[in-house]
Amino acid sequence: MSEIRGTELEEMGSFHPNQLVRTKYENILENLDSGIILFDSDGVLAFVNVQMAKLLGVSRKSLAGCTLTELLRHPQLTRFKKKKILRLFRETIFHRKRFHELLDEYGKSWLITMTYGDQMEGDFLISVKDVSDFKQIEQTAYQNDKLAMLGKISASIAHEIRNPLTSIRGFIQLLRPHLMSLGKDEYARIILTEIDRANDIIYEFLNSSKPSAPQTTVIPVASLLKEVVLLTESEALMKGCQISLHLDERDPTYISVDVKQIKQVLLNLIKNALDAIDEKLDDPGVGMIEIGMKHHDKHVSILVSDNGGGMDQNTLNHLFNPFFTTKEGGTGLGLSVSYRIIKNHGGSIAVESHVGTGTEFEIMLPKMEGTSF
Ligand SMILES: Nc1ncnc2c1ncn2[C@@H]1O[C@H](COP(=O)(O)OP(=O)(O)OP(=O)(O)O)[C@@H](O)[C@H]1O
Ligand SMILES: [Mg+2]
Repeated sequence: MSEIRGTELEEMGSFHPNQLVRTKYENILENLDSGIILFDSDGVLAFVNVQMAKLLGVSRKSLAGCTLTELLRHPQLTRFKKKKILRLFRETIFHRKRFHELLDEYGKSWLITMTYGDQMEGDFLISVKDVSDFKQIEQTAYQNDKLAMLGKISASIAHEIRNPLTSIRGFIQLLRPHLMSLGKDEYARIILTEIDRANDIIYEFLNSSKPSAPQTTVIPVASLLKEVVLLTESEALMKGCQISLHLDERDPTYISVDVKQIKQVLLNLIKNALDAIDEKLDDPGVGMIEIGMKHHDKHVSILVSDNGGGMDQNTLNHLFNPFFTTKEGGTGLGLSVSYRIIKNHGGSIAVESHVGTGTEFEIMLPKMEGTSF
């Protein structure tokens, strides 16, 4: 600070040092990336920085000398913001809460800190900071923890169930000759088939909830997409929904992936899209799922979009959490498993959705070098 002050002083000649320091501080506050607003002890706005005016969506000039009530009546302030400000003040005054977390209409997270009391000599300071990135990291860590726990639980359940199933299978085989002599061989056969089916279900569940390391094969994206569409087309048609594949047949882009796993991801997305269309549309025949590709520098995107009911912000926030579902018969595992599979492939998965309009999922995967157009 003294260094800055010295240099500035030289430049500005007879400027009073205190005044200069104030200007410096004001400059810093004004251009801070956090929003800052200060009300004095009479409730009159004493300072507001550039970022806060931007966040409020109100011009700084029009805020000069405003009281809180006048701010709440400000014609440029949206209803959403007015409601949030009122709630913040209520919680601060009545519940003495100093820290608030707020989710805005665009899904961004903000940390709001209220500072008042003795150290502020009657003034009331509010600062607002964008914490979306921290929240994202926190959410990912939480999700990974949950997935790891899910993996452990599934493994132990499978272990516990498989052992008695193996014993039952063994004893039924021992009993089989006796059942045969009683003319009841059919019973033994049914029991054995059902035990095998139970074993298969456990195996499938374990495989899907804890995807193993990818067994990679090099495959053209176009042919992978064509196969997936073939697999789902008839189910979609039965639901009065059309699947449309946008591809350049000659697209030479290759990816190195575990084909079974990536197919599983795409089938999960298409199944979700079909459900979303089913829920929204009474009129069969207007449901549309579009599948396409987009090229990036080192990656290729696979896009799956639908014109179903879309998702609200709460669903979007929890979408990839294991067991999060809004469906009566859903397990809430489809997307969490898909997320893990794509991460294991060094890719990423993103979503954009609007209630009433539809949803688009974008899967980014590294493409094989030199295989693009
Ligand atoms: N395309 C979509 N449109 C609207 N909502 C969706 C879409 N995809 C996912 N969702 C929402 O995300 C939630 C989680 O999806 P996920 O696939 O993980 O589980 P699920 O579909 O509910 O159950 P499961 O996949 O196990 O049958 C769904 O319940 C739904 O609310
Ligand atoms: Mg699903």
